[in-house]
Amino acid sequence: MSLLELKGVTKRFGGLQAVGHMTFGVEKGEIFGLIGPNGAGKTTVFNVINGFYAPSEGEILFKGERIDGLKPYEICRRGLARTFQVVKPLARLTVLENVMVSAFSRTDHRHEARAMALEATAFTEMEAWRDRMAGSLPLGMRKRLEMARALATKPELLLLDENFAGLNPAEVEKTIAIVRKIHESGVTILIIEHNMRVIMTISQRLLCMCYGEKISEGTPQEVANNPSVIEAYLGAAHA
Ligand SMILES: Nc1ncnc2c1ncn2[C@@H]1O[C@H](COP(=O)(O)OP(=O)(O)OP(=O)(O)O)[C@@H](O)[C@H]1O
Ligand SMILES: [Mg+2]
Repeated sequence: MSLLELKGVTKRFGGLQAVGHMTFGVEKGEIFGLIGPNGAGKTTVFNVINGFYAPSEGEILFKGERIDGLKPYEICRRGLARTFQVVKPLARLTVLENVMVSAFSRTDHRHEARAMALEATAFTEMEAWRDRMAGSLPLGMRKRLEMARALATKPELLLLDENFAGLNPAEVEKTIAIVRKIHESGVTILIIEHNMRVIMTISQRLLCMCYGEKISEGTPQEVANNPSVIEAYLGAAHA
């Protein structure tokens, strides 16, 4: 049994099919990469997995149980957390307070939430930033805060949506190290990333989608060498 399974998931917005007949499984313990050109439907896949939208068709199973139709907070409590491509911290709270808000999904006690937030900010190496107002963080740190907030909910499966976008080379290396550390702590990871070097290095398996549909799935090498994938990124002339 896969940790996460999508079976024929379709999501339409009016006449637009953002995701079509998507079927794949993420196995416990792996880092699974999701790639595809802009507008391919990657973020929409995350939005239906975490309950932001109900799928128009299809089923989503987490740990063998249906989660499609559940609310995001219910899915989060079952152990599935995500980060957002467009980061939106609570700007007038500190970094630590932002992470505590997430930790309240796991506890009703302030001291416990604080302990969990201290742990998550240490894990993401944000100790020096804890008392800063989230609204004043540079982009790299806002991206990292997203990871700390997701980790504070104690996920078994973490969905990362373009956590490397806009980072400088040093921040990219640091974020790779943090993602690896999260993975080594036992968290399964499903990651969307445009930086090919990053996604090829850290993923064990990849799925490439285009116009809402799967066009290739396999090892990073298999997917990168697939002519349909090359065509999706570069146009037919290069395939
Ligand atoms: N709430 C919405 N209402 C209407 N259309 C939407 C909505 N959300 C996404 N879409 C459309 O669905 C398609 C897929 O968008 P999505 O954001 O999932 O792509 P993506 O692969 O994440 O792209 P990017 O790499 O640019 O982040 C796009 O055509 C987008 O305009
Ligand atoms: Mg996206």
